[in-house]
Amino acid sequence: MKIVVAGTGYVGLVTGVALAHIGHNVTCVDVDESKIEKMKKGISPIYEDGLEKLMKDNKNRLTYTTDCKNAYKDADVIFIGVGTPERADGSANLDYVYSVVSEISESLQKDCVVVIKSTVPIGTNDEIEKYLKDNVKKGLKVYVASNPEFLAQGTAIKDTFYASRIIVGTEDKKADEIMRKVYEPLTKPPYNVPYLSMNRKSAEMVKYASNDFLALKVSYINEIANFCEKVGANIEDVTLGMGYDPRIGSKFLKPGIGYGGSCFPKDTKALHWLSKELDTELKTIKACIEVNKIQKIKLYEKLKNDFKSLKGLNVAVLGLTFKPGTDDMREAPSIDNVLLLLDSGANVKAYDPIGVENFKRVIKNKIVDDGITGNINYFNSIDDAIKDTDAVMIMTEWPEIVNYDIKKFEKLMKTPMVYDGRNCYKLEEISKTKIEYKSIGR
Ligand code: UDX
Repeated sequence: MKIVVAGTGYVGLVTGVALAHIGHNVTCVDVDESKIEKMKKGISPIYEDGLEKLMKDNKNRLTYTTDCKNAYKDADVIFIGVGTPERADGSANLDYVYSVVSEISESLQKDCVVVIKSTVPIGTNDEIEKYLKDNVKKGLKVYVASNPEFLAQGTAIKDTFYASRIIVGTEDKKADEIMRKVYEPLTKPPYNVPYLSMNRKSAEMVKYASNDFLALKVSYINEIANFCEKVGANIEDVTLGMGYDPRIGSKFLKPGIGYGGSCFPKDTKALHWLSKELDTELKTIKACIEVNKIQKIKLYEKLKNDFKSLKGLNVAVLGLTFKPGTDDMREAPSIDNVLLLLDSGANVKAYDPIGVENFKRVIKNKIVDDGITGNINYFNSIDDAIKDTDAVMIMTEWPEIVNYDIKKFEKLMKTPMVYDGRNCYKLEEISKTKIEYKSIGR
């Protein structure tokens, strides 16, 4: 079976490499030549634990190319894993998906299953199948299957091999049979991943309903955490108590400064947009989005409340990525907070173990767009970043930050004021120091 994967971002590349690992010959296609050149040399264009090793281990079954026409023409299965970024109105931008679909329709020379892994609005798979049927060479059979992806960044490899489930939406028995064959090795020991067939619209909906539910869970616990602060409860004890109920579960109950990343922000907005279009607004999703927007700047507000004026203040920002284990900066709360700090006249001293280069790119554009002037410097160690600062803001729970010797806050900072957006430290430990400490919900 010849498998092609279009798009070599998180979803595309991890899928391609995983399929090669379970024995398929896979061609990874991307329009970006520099990315393809890197991958040919065994270098992953994204930071993801274990990915480069898997690329090396399976190099005999992996091909990388920009020549999409040649790759698509005799493929048995083509996975589409390109981005579906949000438009200004919150809807999903399908330009990249349709550009691949159009190339496929022009190139295909044999029957093929086109698998949509990208997150797309409900009904898109049906539209794509219609487009392909109308445009491929006469006589060819082309099927479309919806196969949403549930991998999380930082654990993408494990999430693929030991996935909670494989969802395949098709309208055709033949396409389902082919998809079962593709995934057969993952449904057997040692992986034992459950395989679920359904219709295409339901498969598309599983993806949105799952991501939005998790985002809602985070927004819910963030709101409850804020409420705990008001009433004098401790969110850690509250979530511990809640998590024992198997109907609730203990996962995704960690309060913080809001969700970010490539999925939750975009998928909540896209489903909300679609619900409004269909005149049946999803009010829980609307609330989830609103709560997250407010939560993202909670830490800045705490700081502002304590200091009143931030002009000339030296503030260290520890952690820039939206979560640990990734260099991804998409929708990271650090961006909003750093912009507010700079706009208030504070000097920012930033530290992140992996994400500094990506952050510099994002913040440079934002500063220009928003007309903000400000002073921001980057440091390779936490010690250097916090030296002589008036306050520290923790944005990401990197192990380096969680395991940091808290006594150093007292030793190195001008005034040991620590604003922790990820509840990295035990209150008991902090109470043994002179640190003025504010965290979330405690
Ligand atoms: C998510 C989904 O988990 C994955 O299934 C989907 O395919 C893509 O979107 P990802 O964005 O990589 O994956 O990260 P995830 O670990 O789910 O975290 C998302 C955001 O929620 C992060 O900003 C994280 O900090 C936040 N979060 C998560 C919390 O604030 N509290 C939690 O308890 C869990």
